[in-house]
This record gives sequence, structure tokens and C-alpha cells, in this order.
Amino acid sequence: MPQYRIAVLPGDGVGKDVIEAAMIVLEKIRLDAEYVKGDIGWDFWCEEGNPLPERTIEMLKGTDACLFGAITSKPKEDALKELRPELRDQGYSYYSPIVRLRQEFDLYTNLRPCKAYPGNPLNYRDDIDLVIFRENTEGMYAGVEFHPLPEQVRQALLIHPKMKKFQDVPADEISLSTRIMTKKACTRILHCAFEFANKEKRKSVTIVEKPNVLRETGGFILDIARKMSREYPEVELWEANVDAMAMWLVKNPQDYGVLVAENLFGDIISDLSAQLVGGLGFACSGNIGDEYALFEPTHGSAPKYTGLYKVNPTAMLLATKMMLEWLGEGEKAQRLERAIAAVIKEGRVRTYDLKGSSSTLDVARAVAERL
Ligand code: IPM
Ligand code: MG
Repeated sequence: MPQYRIAVLPGDGVGKDVIEAAMIVLEKIRLDAEYVKGDIGWDFWCEEGNPLPERTIEMLKGTDACLFGAITSKPKEDALKELRPELRDQGYSYYSPIVRLRQEFDLYTNLRPCKAYPGNPLNYRDDIDLVIFRENTEGMYAGVEFHPLPEQVRQALLIHPKMKKFQDVPADEISLSTRIMTKKACTRILHCAFEFANKEKRKSVTIVEKPNVLRETGGFILDIARKMSREYPEVELWEANVDAMAMWLVKNPQDYGVLVAENLFGDIISDLSAQLVGGLGFACSGNIGDEYALFEPTHGSAPKYTGLYKVNPTAMLLATKMMLEWLGEGEKAQRLERAIAAVIKEGRVRTYDLKGSSSTLDVARAVAERL
């Protein structure tokens, strides 16, 4: 029996293209694994009214880790228009399957390394090497949202004096999304960030928040961070407001080592940071919990490039490298990273984002050759 059972969820759009690239590399590196494909994404929403069928969740439970390609996600109303006509008006509502997976499997760390590989002409600077720890299960993504606003919720909120001004707004003219942050989730994401910084000898952990305005939630996580930082004398705690952070990341990205943030803030700064090291074609993510982990490129499904094998698979290949590391296959992970870095540096095989004409699979084959 193979040592690992790996779930493979290509999703839709270019997810399928980049997963094919990952499989080329995994085969070459001879990971002792069997791969189980699962259904997820836009097609299943349109056909079944569920972008993440229960059979897929069940399948994942029997695997060691998951490789995920990409999925299309659209706002609720737009999604409804594409649902199979017979299923409309039956109460189906689109939700993001990747967000659900993160919550369902309690994959609380979204680890997003952004490293400038030498020779990448798209690097904003060549000395960037930062790692984002994005809280992955709650915050602005907790999913507790209302529209129209139920009267019960309005009444409960009226204990807050600032709610007074909204007390007479008609229920369908007011909407509410909550940012829920718990001590447990804040503590575990901060712990991961500090542990990483300490182990990897990074000089700082920057908490990216907005406690001057989001006083209760922002102040809450900041307080936990300050207390925790006392246990890590070798690591400095830097505090940055999220808006200023956007500016600092453009001004001096090389100064930062580890960033830690709530779900939505982490989402935003991770796209910004990705662009500093070549764009989404180079940005990978690990969604990591205590028992299970799912690895994906940070990019979306880029529907217009579906099946054209045009997009850069480097992000997916780096996500594959992260998976190998997490499985404890450190030597294979290092070998894969070196091969990816060599292909980038050499610059012969390049996709369109790098002004080249090679295909997604050409890049994968070039990496595989160097393994
Ligand atoms: C990401 C993506 C997702 C997110 C989308 C596709 C729901 O932007 O992984 O960063 O918002 O988390
Ligand atoms: Mg994002």
C-alpha cells in the first residue's frame, strides 16, 4: 500500500491545468502516494446546487492531505443566475467551497510565503522573503451575516449606543457582516507565527490590524500578541495598522519577515505581497490544521484561460513543495524548491506572465527534468 493517500481537487478554470502540472512533478519525484480525485467547484454548483458535495468532504476524511487547484466564486446573486433552471427558487445559495473547507477541517493557519526567487524579472525587489500567517477560520470570514436584518438581531445590537442611529432603517435597507474573533483562534495563529519566527531566526513578527478603529476585535488580538511576545525574547513584535502596512509593504518590503493577521486583512495583504514577488503565478498557500492540511496556489480560476495551459504553474508547484514539507518529506521538498528556483533563474521556459511563450506543462516538465 502506498505511504500516503492524497486528495486532488482540481476545481475549475485553470485549476485543472495547474493540477496537471503538479502531477507531472509528483510523479517524477516519486512520492509514494495514491491520488484520489474529488468534485468541487463551479460546475457542481451549476449542476447540483452545491459547489462542495458531501461525497467530497467524506472522501477528504480518508486522505492524509489535499492538493487543490482553483475555483470560480461569484457573489450570491450572480451565482444564482447560473444555477440549473430546475434548481432555482429552491433555496440554494452559493458559498465559497474553499472557505467552507478551511472551516470544516479547522485548517486554522493560512501560511503564505512570498519569496523573491533570484532571476524572476517580475520581482519588485530581489531581497523580499516574507511569510504571512493568515487566520483562516473566523474574523470577517466567520460567515455570520444578515440581510435583511432580523428584528431580533437589531434589538440585541441596540444595547450598543452607536446602534441607535440605525434603529429605524428598514430591515431590507440595512446589512450586517460580523467580525468574530476568539481567544482560541487568535492565540493559535499568533503562536504559529511566533514559533516560526523563532525557529527560522526571523527578527520580527508584525501584527497587521486596525485597533485604533476596530477597538474591540483589533485591540483584543493585539493584547494577546503583546502578552505572547514576552515568551519570545529573540523576536520583536511590530504593530502595524493594515492601511499603513499596505504602504510599508510597497515602500520597504525587505524589512519584514513574518506577518500575522485576521482573515480578511490577511487575504488583502497576501495579494499585495504576492505581487511583490512576481504576482499570483508565484504565490502559494498552505491551509494547515492540527490533523489535516490543504495546499493551493493563491490565485483564482482565471476562467478565460481555462484549458489553454497558459498560466504559470509555479504557485501550484510551490504549494506542492509545501505539501511535501508538511508530510515530513523534507528532502523531496527541498529538491523540488531547488528545481523550481533553477527554472526561474535560467529563464528559458517562461509562461506569458514572464513574457515567454511556454505552456503550463512545459514549465512543469522543465522542473521535473531538474529533479
Ligand atoms: C484566497 C481567495 C479566497 C479567499 C476566495 C477565493 C474565497 O481570495 O484564498 O485568498 O478570500 O480567501
Ligand atoms: Mg485572496
